[in-house]
Amino acid sequence: MFEVQASAYDRHVGRYSSQLAAALSEFAGVVPGMRVLDVGCGPGALTAELVRRLGPAGVSAAEPSGSFAQACRARVPGAEVVEASAEAMPFADGAFDATLSQLVVNFLDDAEPGAREMARVTRPGGVVAACVWDYAGEMELLRAFWDAAREVSPERAAAQDEGETMRWCRDGELTVLWERAGLRHVRADALRVRARYAGFEDLWAPFPAGVGPSGAFCATLGEGDRDALHDALRRRLGVGDQPFDLTARAWAVAGTAG
Ligand SMILES: C[S@@+](CC[C@H](N)C(=O)[O-])C[C@H]1O[C@@H](n2cnc3c(N)ncnc32)[C@H](O)[C@@H]1O
Repeated sequence: MFEVQASAYDRHVGRYSSQLAAALSEFAGVVPGMRVLDVGCGPGALTAELVRRLGPAGVSAAEPSGSFAQACRARVPGAEVVEASAEAMPFADGAFDATLSQLVVNFLDDAEPGAREMARVTRPGGVVAACVWDYAGEMELLRAFWDAAREVSPERAAAQDEGETMRWCRDGELTVLWERAGLRHVRADALRVRARYAGFEDLWAPFPAGVGPSGAFCATLGEGDRDALHDALRRRLGVGDQPFDLTARAWAVAGTAG
């Protein structure tokens, strides 16, 4: 579901990524002079934010999807981008001052080894930070999508609703994960961001392209159900052809390695 066009991702949840990247970088305490790793970089919104703050020589990124890794290299020339998973990264122990991961931890089959690997590549005293959408609550786009999907195909949508299926997306859960992974001085916060849409069709366009779990659900519907989902989502959001904004909340966690 992430072997897709970066442009489709950018129009979907990627629309929130740049603002979230700035908020996560602030929360993690990224400052000039640091060497920082972006884990699960996708098409590179956080990588680009880190390069703005640190310059390309201070930034590395890891991403298992070939199309996203390629898109990140094109978007952020000069940063090191490797095709690798969070659980097994080709970096030495303590290679980075900070390791950040934006909207990725919930996609790991087993997040604890992933968090431990992020801690391994971070120097003792360095920061490991991550964030995950509040899927069950204040991520307006995805919450409205799954509520609309439950109207159209109740059983299938209930089984795939990210508010139910995603781990580590409830208040306090990332803290538990970070502590289990051996990180110290663990602190948490809520990051709030906003995205602008030109109108409802601008919001809808990336869903049938199959991006992420919501897109994957949408792409498998027959034409009739897809049209019904389109209409139900539009009605739930209460928007039309005029521009509008949606807000999204992500839970963030940071801890000290070593
Ligand atoms: C919602 S996207 C977030 C992308 C980017 N960090 C952003 O904020 O826009 C989730 C990303 O996690 C990546 N991913 C999935 N499994 C992963 C794993 N085991 N290790 C690292 N990244 C993974 C996906 O390929 C995808 O790029």
